[in-house]
Amino acid sequence: MASEKKSPVAVVMGSDSDMGVMQSCIEQLGDFEIEPVVRIISAHRTPEVAADFAQEAAGQGIKVIIAAAGMAAHLAGALASRTTLPVIGVPLVSSSGLEGIDAFLSTVQMPPGVPVATVAIGKAGAKNAAVLAAQILALSDVKLADKLADFKKNQAAKVIEKDSAVR
Ligand code: RP5
Repeated sequence: MASEKKSPVAVVMGSDSDMGVMQSCIEQLGDFEIEPVVRIISAHRTPEVAADFAQEAAGQGIKVIIAAAGMAAHLAGALASRTTLPVIGVPLVSSSGLEGIDAFLSTVQMPPGVPVATVAIGKAGAKNAAVLAAQILALSDVKLADKLADFKKNQAAKVIEKDSAVR
């Protein structure tokens, strides 16, 4: 692995062209004080790197892998096939013209025995991947569980405020 950084969360994306959307995932993790390992690894263009990364991830202290890709998005599945760590898949919109449906189906339709927890297409999914990763880690981290409770409270307060403004 090129990165020496240690983190319980890895955010892997298929291309640097995915970074714009995945920034919201990285920022949401940052709000939970999780600074992830960030990698650009392609299931198709750098398959050996993908295999090595997945095989070494648990040994590097990673506990959850977030994998984002567009088009025929096999990254999350390829990583999930080589690790027992939970893998969250983020299907992305690319220039394919299919609005991310291609990536969604490629990510979500995993065969029995190799799950990928697939979130929504694009920016919403990128953010939710961070929240879901935090929720997994919070099972054994009380401080993080408190941060998640605050996150939910703040989110509810914003909706209530907007409701008051329109009533
Ligand atoms: C996927 O192909 C990447 O995840 C990206 O969403 C898409 C296009 O990649 P680039 O041609 O922009 O590198 O593998």
